[in-house]
Amino acid sequence: MTIGKPLPHDAAPLHVTGAARYTDDLPAPGHAVHLAFGLSTVAHARITGIDLSAVRAAPGVLAVLTAADFDEVPDCSPSIGDEPLLATGTVHYVGQPVFLVIAESHLAARRAARLGRIDHQELPATLTVEQAMAAGSRFEGGPVIWSRGDAAGAIAAAPHRIEGEIEVGGQEHFYLEGQVAMAVPGEGGDMHVLCSTQHPTEIQHKVAHALHRPMSMVRVEVRRMGGGFGGKESQGNALAIACAVAADRTGRPARMRYDRDDDMMITGKRHDLKIRYRAGFDDRGRIAGVEFDHLFRCGWSMDLSLPVADRAMLHADNAYHLPAVRIESHRLRTNTQSATAFRGFGGPQGVIGIERVMDHIAHALKADPLAVRRANYYAEAEGHAPGTGHRFAGPHSPGGPSAPPVPPPVPPLAPPEDISARMKGGIVLDSTHYGMTVEDCVLRAMTDRLTESADYAARRAAVDAWNAANPILKKGLALTPVKFGISFTLTHLNQAGALVHVYQDGSIHLNHGGTEMGQGLFQKVAQVAADVFGVTTDQVRITATDTQKVPNTSATAASSGSDLNGMATRAACLTLRDRIADHLAERHQARAEDVRFADGRVMVGGAAMSFAEAAASAYQARVSLSATGFYATPKLEWDRKAGRGRPFLYFAYGVAATEVVIDTLTGENRILRADILHDTGASLNPALDLGQVEGAYVQGAGWLTTEELVWDGKGRLATHAPSTYKIPTASDAPPVFNVALWGRPNREDTIGRSKAVGEPPFMLGISAFMALSDAVAACGDGTVYPDLQAPATAERVLAAINRVRGHV
Ligand code: MTE
Ligand code: MOS
Repeated sequence: MTIGKPLPHDAAPLHVTGAARYTDDLPAPGHAVHLAFGLSTVAHARITGIDLSAVRAAPGVLAVLTAADFDEVPDCSPSIGDEPLLATGTVHYVGQPVFLVIAESHLAARRAARLGRIDHQELPATLTVEQAMAAGSRFEGGPVIWSRGDAAGAIAAAPHRIEGEIEVGGQEHFYLEGQVAMAVPGEGGDMHVLCSTQHPTEIQHKVAHALHRPMSMVRVEVRRMGGGFGGKESQGNALAIACAVAADRTGRPARMRYDRDDDMMITGKRHDLKIRYRAGFDDRGRIAGVEFDHLFRCGWSMDLSLPVADRAMLHADNAYHLPAVRIESHRLRTNTQSATAFRGFGGPQGVIGIERVMDHIAHALKADPLAVRRANYYAEAEGHAPGTGHRFAGPHSPGGPSAPPVPPPVPPLAPPEDISARMKGGIVLDSTHYGMTVEDCVLRAMTDRLTESADYAARRAAVDAWNAANPILKKGLALTPVKFGISFTLTHLNQAGALVHVYQDGSIHLNHGGTEMGQGLFQKVAQVAADVFGVTTDQVRITATDTQKVPNTSATAASSGSDLNGMATRAACLTLRDRIADHLAERHQARAEDVRFADGRVMVGGAAMSFAEAAASAYQARVSLSATGFYATPKLEWDRKAGRGRPFLYFAYGVAATEVVIDTLTGENRILRADILHDTGASLNPALDLGQVEGAYVQGAGWLTTEELVWDGKGRLATHAPSTYKIPTASDAPPVFNVALWGRPNREDTIGRSKAVGEPPFMLGISAFMALSDAVAACGDGTVYPDLQAPATAERVLAAINRVRGHV
């Protein structure tokens, strides 16, 4: 079995030696032109004149384009066509591309782009969610509202109530490789685009549209990205389109790469938002009703904001059964960068709302937040059995956690109305606020295991003792769960294709619609292919994603890359294996089902041969050794308007316990230790999955602690470089970091019974934020809730300390 092996990333040796080729490393055929955008310096204005004479006169400049140079300005939007490549009459944010410089070199283009003079008449700019709410500046007619039961009534009738507001900051993707594209013109109007995108088919579609050509004339190829994190789902469109246009007009290859400051000024980030909440609960902290208002700052264009905000609504429950709930989601249009996909795709914004509610309830009841969380967990039918698969210790941990005793089944918390549909193994299952039964919840069992392996109870007591003894440094501890829905919520995106060739020497060429951004998708899918043929991954050649090989692909997103492309690849490989087996069975007078592929060999009717000999034999018998495969996720049924149905095939789960320390004099803070147990089903590759879990946790903690985006009163992003925007580095990873995989196979029939891993563990970083809240709470007498805002920078931690001490 190759599936399940902790093989290293296929390109790891290339990454660390610098031999891995990224888009900007690719040689252009012939002398390329280089591009740069001239940007808007105001947030909202009517352009009254553009003087580009100095730009045109600058050394190395070949041409400069504005919107006026197009009959129809190409559109870059992934949704409703509201993003012209270059501003048409009005600019909508600081950083919007207004003109395009085509020059002999990258530096010449960038230098010249600074010389443009744009005259404008300024218009009132809408920068904050409050301004947008007041002005009714939004992307849909009104807020989207989903509800179950009478939340207001349940809150009013509950024995206890809380309400509050949390500001949650955005996040810059900070992919190490910035946005980049190259276009190479071919004969007869063909265009070959090589770029860094999670969505090659989208680029193909947008370039074809820009050039007024059929998609069949545009080829998009992506070998790898140096990170995407959702920032390359739509934000690379502009560069690819600009390159295609420039290549078409000059007849030369065209390249474009954003410098880091430009990248941060031009491209969209994670949506920041304001969440208002009200909850009613009983003495144990069990929620009777909860209401959320989500105020999403979407920026100037729609981009992917609607599905992002939808996913926040879908994750407003996180791990908890909410008997009555109402969510009101405002998708607000502002004169800022157009917020976009970022790991979790709105899920983290939904999850932090309910985690905040749990924290607030626990504070109100003076209860352990973990007890409150557990009291609200979804019922679970099974999952009490300990993991049977990989328990894999992370590189930082000396050993994995030990298996806990099997706890008895947990009775349901609230008796539901119609229980017949929710019975499973004698347990009544809960359904989410959108009506999907939670069949696979394993959080109680996972929480049991983690509290044991992380020594939660003893450390809780130790933290309390420390805080009682130490006036300056205060510690905090929090354990938070995550439940994350897997599938694209736009149902038709849940499909994938693959193309597999077996050559006559037995080597295997693998291609599928997924893209590689460092997450290890290509290696996982190669393991799937190798597994079907009974060979090692060395015999499987991984090739670049290419719209000429596999058409009509979905973005590699929603964590579904291996689920979708693994299945499509398996289908293609099975077709080929069956053809080879049929041929060998006939030749050896055996039955096709008795032909076995294992250990690089093929066994048939007493004979054994190498896989290469089997391939050669099939070739000589004129058997086709090329096949496509296809997969469409089953069981999905989702009515977005009504907010009802089954948008996900299954959920991925995880739990994290984080301990932090804060300095009450400065607000400075650090993570001391993190323990994580994460559910990736029967892992396709536990080494890669652990890397994903560790990276996601640190990125999630960064979002809520040091990564702060600041816009000034004029809508200018002040934090547009690493000098002012602080992402976590290796030294910010928890010094004690115990990460383990749960290891039980997925209940659903996914590839190898694995579960998607890319995004879900991002939300485990929320435990760091809640631990900070816990530490701040310890600074006061317990009467005032810390009301920590995110990101919890040193300043915000200090402000919260002052609040709980009554020094405001
Ligand atoms: N891991 C690395 N190293 N680099 C990335 O850019 N993107 C994340 C996640 N993990 C990312 C990553 C995001 S946003 C998603 S949706 C998934 O990977 C996409 O890949 P998958 O579907 O193959 O998991
Ligand atoms: Mo990931 S945000 O779905 O690219």
